[in-house]
Amino acid sequence: MTQWANPEIIASAPGRVNLIGEHIDFCEGFVIPFAIADRTTVKISRRSDREIHIRSAQRPEHTIVTDIDSLNPGAPGDWERYVLGVLWALEIKSGLNIEIDGAVPLGAGLSSSAALECSIALAVNEIFALGHSLKDLALAAQKAENLYVGMPCGIIDQAVSLLAQAGAALLIDCRDLDTTLIPFEISSHGLELLIIDTQVHHALVDGGYANRRAACESAATKLAKKSLRDISISELKQSQDLLTPDEFLRARHGITEIARVLEAVVALKESDFTQLGNLITASHLSLRDDYDVSCPELNLAVDTSLEFGAIGARMIGGGFGGSAIALVPKEKVKDIESEIAKNFAAKGFIAPRFFTSPPSAGAAIHR
Ligand code: GLA
Repeated sequence: MTQWANPEIIASAPGRVNLIGEHIDFCEGFVIPFAIADRTTVKISRRSDREIHIRSAQRPEHTIVTDIDSLNPGAPGDWERYVLGVLWALEIKSGLNIEIDGAVPLGAGLSSSAALECSIALAVNEIFALGHSLKDLALAAQKAENLYVGMPCGIIDQAVSLLAQAGAALLIDCRDLDTTLIPFEISSHGLELLIIDTQVHHALVDGGYANRRAACESAATKLAKKSLRDISISELKQSQDLLTPDEFLRARHGITEIARVLEAVVALKESDFTQLGNLITASHLSLRDDYDVSCPELNLAVDTSLEFGAIGARMIGGGFGGSAIALVPKEKVKDIESEIAKNFAAKGFIAPRFFTSPPSAGAAIHR
């Protein structure tokens, strides 16, 4: 009979919404995400052999079976690579049974993949008593996604999924993963943060994300700086001739977005939601025009929200689909939802989904 101290561990981790600070986590910027209420829950138990058995409540028709000795970064596969990648990054050497129940909408730009990675990372850390800090688990989950899955993401999704706390947004300095909780209570100010899932599913591994990241990095290299964090907007303008047009535009987004995040911190501290809304909308325009990661559905969701009374709106996440957010006076939420639905129908777009979420807790062990 096996004698494990913790024969079974249940852990969960949330998806996220990013208030502001988009596509700057990989260039040492600041970001202000919060965890949403939707979570992925995993139940894991040790096996006496070296096999990995993965089952998902969302795909109950089959169990994925592999073994711990054949983990192979970059190998083709499906969603199970997010699980296997974390086992690989944490250098697990024993067999496991893994059951997954994911409630974060897939492909909605709400980081279902980070929720999966982080719930597995936390559960594995617990069952094998690895003793890693939450920050180290975030870095391991990012490594899994970068090297095992092949998506060159930054750290925002994994960091907030593991480190978030209920009632607050999380200011993350992506240079060193230093975090500060920023209370985000908008209801008493008569506001709601509407999340609009365009239902356009993005595939970030397809190259659009990677080539923008590469443009930001080559812009920094050409200006002899470590990252966009170290470049001011006037330095960028003075050095425009050194850069390709794409490098200039991508870097301009990154540098101005870092500045907007810092202004948003002040606005949040002062409960200046008009200013916060302006910054959120400015972020969208920069993502749309300079960074070129929006799409017609996201733009329509944002434009309609603003036209019908939102005080700020923008696409969130990697882009090319997924979700937008709108900061909306409560009494206008229903109107804005129906105007967006109407405009989507008129264009022949898939019907969008609407929801809201309070800032929720980060990953947790439930036993
Ligand atoms: C994706 C990536 C993140 C981040 C966002 C854009 O969600 O996983 O690391 O770069 O896009 O802000």
